Amino acid sequence: MTSNKNLVLIGMMGSGKSTVGGELAQKLKLGFIDTDKEIEKLEKKTIKKIFDINGEDYFRKIEEKIVLDKLNLSKKIIALGGGSYLNNEVRKYSKKKCFVIWLHWENDTLINRISKNKKRPKIVNLSKRELHNLINDRNLVYKQADFKLNCESLNKSQIIEKLKFIYENKITKS
Ligand code: S3P
Repeated sequence: MTSNKNLVLIGMMGSGKSTVGGELAQKLKLGFIDTDKEIEKLEKKTIKKIFDINGEDYFRKIEEKIVLDKLNLSKKIIALGGGSYLNNEVRKYSKKKCFVIWLHWENDTLINRISKNKKRPKIVNLSKRELHNLINDRNLVYKQADFKLNCESLNKSQIIEKLKFIYENKITKS
């Protein structure tokens, strides 16, 4: 029996969800959804503008609505924003129709990638120590994923190959 499950990528900002998700979808000839892009399309604003003008609570409400809507689709590759999986409803829904993969990296790797990026409003004013704490706290939730992929020793093509293997062997056959 073939499954209609979505493959959902979770993990911290800077973990490569959008980049590898898009390329994976091309390889598998499946539709790709980047939920941050969907939010920007709907709101006609960048995520940074939404945070600046409407605040994080507003962003999280729109994010929940869009993410729950997309998780209900079939056979899609879906990249979630780094905070989405912290939402209880999102975790509950994703257990039904999705296979969730956590792209895991060492804290220092993530911090080096994201700390200078001004487009990420959630972390723009955080110190290194605060970033470590945020990542450690989130990892306690991310670890509820169906699969943890340790990305640290892999290059981008290897990550995509591993995800493709998981989709073809664990997801479509489940
Ligand atoms: C956020 C991550 C961002 C975006 C928003 C909040 C977070 O997505 O949803 O800035 O709280 O981790 P990426 O993980 O795609 O950068």
